[in-house]
Amino acid sequence: MTEVQSRPKWGTKLGIILAVAGSAVGLGNFLRFPVQAAQNGGGAFLIPYFISFIILGIPLMWIEWAIGRHGGLFGHGSAPFILNRLWKNRVTKYLGTIGIFGPVVIFIYYTYIESWLLGYAFFAITGKLLLIMTAPGMKDFLTVYQGLAPGSNVWTAYLFFVITFGINFYVLYRGVEGGIELLSKIAMPILFLFGLIIALRVLTLGTPNPLHPDWNIVNGLGFLWNPDFSALLNSKVWLAAAGQVFFTLSVGIGAILTYASYLKRGDDVVLSGLSAASTNEMAEIVLGGSIVIPVAFAFLGPMGATEAAGSGAFNLGFVTMPLIFNQIPLGQFLCFLWFGLLFLAGITSSVSLAEPAVAFISDEFSLDRKRAVKILGVVLFLLCQLPIFFLGQGVVDELDFWGGTFCLVLFGTIEVVIFVWFFGMEKAWEEMHYGAEMRIPGFYKPIIKYVTPLFLFFILGFWFVQQGLPVILMHGVSSSLMPYVVATRLGLITLFAAIAILVRIAWKRKKALGLVE
Ligand code: PHE
Repeated sequence: MTEVQSRPKWGTKLGIILAVAGSAVGLGNFLRFPVQAAQNGGGAFLIPYFISFIILGIPLMWIEWAIGRHGGLFGHGSAPFILNRLWKNRVTKYLGTIGIFGPVVIFIYYTYIESWLLGYAFFAITGKLLLIMTAPGMKDFLTVYQGLAPGSNVWTAYLFFVITFGINFYVLYRGVEGGIELLSKIAMPILFLFGLIIALRVLTLGTPNPLHPDWNIVNGLGFLWNPDFSALLNSKVWLAAAGQVFFTLSVGIGAILTYASYLKRGDDVVLSGLSAASTNEMAEIVLGGSIVIPVAFAFLGPMGATEAAGSGAFNLGFVTMPLIFNQIPLGQFLCFLWFGLLFLAGITSSVSLAEPAVAFISDEFSLDRKRAVKILGVVLFLLCQLPIFFLGQGVVDELDFWGGTFCLVLFGTIEVVIFVWFFGMEKAWEEMHYGAEMRIPGFYKPIIKYVTPLFLFFILGFWFVQQGLPVILMHGVSSSLMPYVVATRLGLITLFAAIAILVRIAWKRKKALGLVE
């Protein structure tokens, strides 16, 4: 057996479930999900969504827990070396590089957006947001905050970014049990409480505008959930559903894998993975599905809600929501809860995005965790400057596309194929069931072996033709943004190459020490 350093471990079972649920419950649940559902057939979106959840989401959750725990036993907490244990091949570790690169790319923009939430929570509680009563006014506030309006600057946003970044790294610095687990145990219950209060308030809003009796919450729920079945014939809807399942569950990127590497050998993965996934679905469907869209409908009517959903998640979260809170009693407080909830959801996700890189540095270069966190802190701080200063040049969209969409599906496919085909289905099944507190129903075996990978290949193929190719060829990118898009892509390639080189150096080092085969 190879070197097994004393790696950190989770303190309790509830702790790891909450940490994984914390990673999963994020901005994706409250902003991305309702927008995706509203734009892709409303209630009919739930059909491809649930199918994807059952044949992609849950299997990937189990797979990541199982292979992460397996890797942890051999002292590895990040994808390159973990995957290489499952399939010894020269290329495996480079495929695994995506499992560090992808989370880092998401972290770079996610943390900046998370910091806006902290800023907005602050402006909500101090009453500044309450003074704005019109949509153009609220939009202006956002663009001024982002430093995009003429004559504005980014320094307020920068201050909140530094605080947010600092909290993230403080948590990481405190370690797995004393940092991430503690954060999740505190933040998750608060988040659910805030979500519940807001959802209850929204659901009891009735008909806020007497001039429009049919603009009410029940019709608002109907607007989101009444199915448009024709949407099922559209492959775009299926892609959106599968993409949402990956993003919201945090699977297919390497984050859960690393969390699971801090499990002990005999720890259950089946029931725990399922519990974390179900917690996420509660937050997504029940809370995420009953807040933004229904409330937008009740206040803005069908046209207004369609327009708000079409204008994207940011507009809905940062412009529409505060405007609506300004019109209801106790709005100031509810608005604070809303941004507070999103901030907590964000921070428990962003720490999980940085953790694979922390694990890689400390495990594979045998560095003390605290040093690894410091090194990564410097690197990520520098990288995070890009979305801050080039927000207006489309950098966030680029990073989101490559990190939050492409890498997710690609890496998810790689994980499944390596685990069930190269490592072998029988061994994989046994590995998942080791210490399990629940047996996976037998019909899942052929699903995981054939259906999940085939479905992923289809998605990857369709996705490539429908969205990948036009994006790669930069269709629709205005010529003024072109240089920034090209520069971002070159930057991403460089980042990937840099991580791959580090993987190679770590590999050679461990080989010289006789620690890897
Ligand atoms: N699941 C998170 C959300 O819903 C985002 C995320 C994706 C976090 C991938 C970690 C890894 O917002």
